[in-house]
Order: sequence, then structure tokens, then C-alpha cells
Amino acid sequence: MALSGKTILITGASQRIGRTLALACASAGADIFLHYASSPAAADSTRAEIQALGRQAHLLPADLGDPLQAASLIDRAWQIAPVDALINNAAIFEPLGWQDTRLEAWQRHLQINLTAPFQLSQAFARRLDADASGCIVNLLDWRALRPGADHLPYTISKAGLAALTRSLAQAFAPRIRVNALALGAILPPSDGADTQGLLENIPARRWARLEEVSQAVLFLLDGAEYITGEIIHLDGGRHLV
Ligand SMILES: NC(=O)c1ccc[n+]([C@@H]2O[C@H](COP(=O)([O-])OP(=O)(O)OC[C@H]3O[C@@H](n4cnc5c(N)ncnc54)[C@H](OP(=O)(O)O)[C@@H]3O)[C@@H](O)[C@H]2O)c1
Repeated sequence: MALSGKTILITGASQRIGRTLALACASAGADIFLHYASSPAAADSTRAEIQALGRQAHLLPADLGDPLQAASLIDRAWQIAPVDALINNAAIFEPLGWQDTRLEAWQRHLQINLTAPFQLSQAFARRLDADASGCIVNLLDWRALRPGADHLPYTISKAGLAALTRSLAQAFAPRIRVNALALGAILPPSDGADTQGLLENIPARRWARLEEVSQAVLFLLDGAEYITGEIIHLDGGRHLV
């Protein structure tokens, strides 16, 4: 999928990794549906950056914790323009173990991190023309395939999203390719959580550079026509140790 003239919907694209991906896709020639939830100012600023690149950016606010809002997001985008690719980036990440995970937090993680990507993927596959080809990229975590005991609802939601990636890759073939990136240490959490000692557990001994995430996503969108159902680890080898 050459990105020039394509339209890509990116969830959670106002800041951090989502913003980086939005700017990378726009630099590659795509117009962007920029979804955000609680960061309108950041979304507006990212929209201006995309427009400065000569591409269109449409803001789409939605709380993906609300299944009704998640279910209608693709239709809202399609009322403006057809969508060629979907990047499921928005997520929550709370430090909850089995003892302190209440049902509400469990369900919120599953809704935002797993159910909403499914709802968006389902709507995308339904709306895409029968003779068009599309692409979905899901943002996972290396822990999705090596679950530990910490961040329990987050990890389980990402494990589900890994399974969903492989399942929908088959269900949507050959029309829509579905792939994922399993990320490691890309950006420290915005809540200021302690990351000391982290690098000792990463064979690459460093944080990723944001452009490395962009390159991988652009490859999955534009350079991987025969790849589907793949989960690429972008974690400096962390899942190996
Ligand atoms: N950062 C890392 O090192 C790392 C490591 C492994 C995996 N990942 C994965 O990579 C992706 C991006 O990471 P990140 O650190 O950039 O993410 P982030 O900053 O924690 O969250 C991305 C966006 O998700 C949106 N979001 C949160 N709750 C939402 C809700 N109820 N409805 C709709 N949107 C909601 C937020 O949008 P608003 O700000 O507009 O509310 C937020 O900006 C995530 O899927 C994450 O799990 C990141």
C-alpha cells in the first residue's frame, strides 16, 4: 500500500507514539484521521503539524471506553472519506496486580485495549469496498506474548490483541492485512513510573528511538504486501531474556 493519497485512522494520535506515527504517515503522503480522547489541545497541535506537511488531518474525538462511541468511530470517519488503513494505538496501562484489580479496571482495560480495536477492525472490514485492499496495525507490548504478573489487566488485554491480530489476519484475508508491533521500552509512562534498572534487562541496553517505531509501522503499511498475521518485536531483544 503506497501511502501517497491514502487515508489512515490512528487512535490515540494526539501525543507520544500515536503523534509520531501520525506525522510519519503524513510525511509519507497520507491524510490522517486523528482520534483522541481527553487531549484536545495536543490533538489540535498535531493536526497543525500534519497540515504543515501539506496533508489533511481530521480530528475524531471519542472515548473508546464507551462501546457505543468505539462502534461508531469508523462510520464517522467514512462520512468524511474512505479509510485505507487503521492503526490501533490508543491504550491504557495501569500498574495493577491480581489483588488490586477491581472488576471496573479489568473491564476498562479490556474495552479500551482489546474490544475497541475489535470494534474498529470489524467496522473497517465492513465498510471497505469489496475490491479495495486495506491494512490494520495493532500496537502490542512484548509482554503480550510473555505475560508476567504485573500490569495484569493491561497484559491480558494486549495478549488478547495479539490473538486478535492473528485471527483477523485469517478472517480478513486476502483483502486486509493485519499485523502488529510488540513494543518494549519506547517512551517512559507519562505517570512518571520508576524505570530505573530497566535497561539492564534489555539486550540492546537502550530505549528505542521513536523513528524506529515509525519505520516499522511504515514497513507494515507500505512494504509488507505478503506479510499478514505477523507480530514484530521492537523491544531491543527484551522478550528473549
Ligand atoms: N510507551 C511505551 O514504551 C510502550 C511500550 C509498550 C507498548 N506500548 C503501546 O504503544 C501504544 C502507544 O503507547 P503510548 O505510551 O504512546 O500510549 P499512551 O500515551 O499511554 O496512550 C496513548 C493514547 O491513548 C488514548 N486513550 C487513553 N484512554 C482512552 C480512552 N478511554 N479512549 C480513547 N483513547 C484513549 C489517549 O488519548 P488522549 O490523550 O487524547 O486521551 C492517549 O494519548 C499503546 O498501545 C501502548 O500500549 C507503548
